[in-house]
Amino acid sequence: NIPNNIIEKIGKNLHNEPNHPLNIIKKKIQYHFQNELSSDQHQFKFFDKFQPKVTTKQNFDDLLFPNTHVGRSPNDTYYYDKNTLLRTHTSAHQSEILNDKDVNAFLVTGDVYRRDTIDAVHYPVFHQMEGVKVFKSPNSFNFKYDPNIDYYTNTEYKTMPEIKEIEDELKKSLESMIRGVIGQDLQVRWIDAYFPFTSPSFEMEILFQDQWLEVLGCGVVHPGIMNHTGFTNERAWAFGIGLERLAMILFNIPDIRLFWTQDKRFLSQFDNVDKDPNNLTNIDIKNVQFQPFSKYPSCFKDVSFWISDDFHENKFYEFVRETCGDLVEKVDLVDNFHNKKSNKTSHCYRIQYRSMERNLTNNEIDEIQLKLRNQVEVALNVKLR
Ligand code: DAH
Repeated sequence: NIPNNIIEKIGKNLHNEPNHPLNIIKKKIQYHFQNELSSDQHQFKFFDKFQPKVTTKQNFDDLLFPNTHVGRSPNDTYYYDKNTLLRTHTSAHQSEILNDKDVNAFLVTGDVYRRDTIDAVHYPVFHQMEGVKVFKSPNSFNFKYDPNIDYYTNTEYKTMPEIKEIEDELKKSLESMIRGVIGQDLQVRWIDAYFPFTSPSFEMEILFQDQWLEVLGCGVVHPGIMNHTGFTNERAWAFGIGLERLAMILFNIPDIRLFWTQDKRFLSQFDNVDKDPNNLTNIDIKNVQFQPFSKYPSCFKDVSFWISDDFHENKFYEFVRETCGDLVEKVDLVDNFHNKKSNKTSHCYRIQYRSMERNLTNNEIDEIQLKLRNQVEVALNVKLR
């Protein structure tokens, strides 16, 4: 039960579209890894064409996701069936490439899919890049994988000099990359994090307009993954970065829906930024700033209903995207109350309508809102108030 508006996005491959801002960002990062972070031992290889339909094993099991992890829930993830889904991250390709012993450094870019809230920075389809680098361990490295060790917490493991060395190389490489892409004077800080597939794990935050923004996750690849991909005496680091967030910062793009627009007033602003679309060159983006063509007025409509036990907020957000398309800019849960007597819960959502491309008429919005009201009860098993 993957909705049509999602299925339609498969194959668009915005990251491979010459002069699309996501393609420009991708190439900026690839260029940096090829020219600043490769060596005789490590030549980064690029994978841009993997299909987003993957197995549950690739997306979760191989990456050591616990069976209880929320990411596995059909409320978060688009499943074709029990064993196949739309990848929720480009990490889904880590294990299969690690299995190929001819590749010891790579970047995978692709579209990823998640059920989520609706606002200017969230969209059910977005783009990520995954990077991995494998190191030969020194002979002194006395390390045997032991399935009984909890590598997330084991301090003996986490403080090994060989692990610390990988962690330092990882942080140094990613700081170099992000400054190469955004600017040399960028302020960066590291936060401890948790991911099932790395330990230790970190998030990078950058200072942008007086705010610390999380831009990527990374860490030392979990020994269990090294073990099941056939490595006995190697270590690796990995990272994953979202491309929309970075492009919005770099080009001053105010709304994530714009990446999907066909509007020439958007796309033409990036025409010719990449002087050599067929090759990997250092694209100059110094003076490339998106000029909003206008901010059309927005309009708010509320809808309230009694929910049933199987209701999940993400189901409503998805229903809204499906029925109203990209005319919705934001949806907020503005009231959530439980009636003790009837033991029922009511949700009120405020929907903000705004087109990125034109003025919407009152009639048009009323019609869409009516359609939404007419269909929501059956679609989500709720009762309008
Ligand atoms: N897959 C993670 C996500 O989508 C991002 C990530 C975190 C990738 C840490 C990595 C990593 O390779 O080591 O949120």
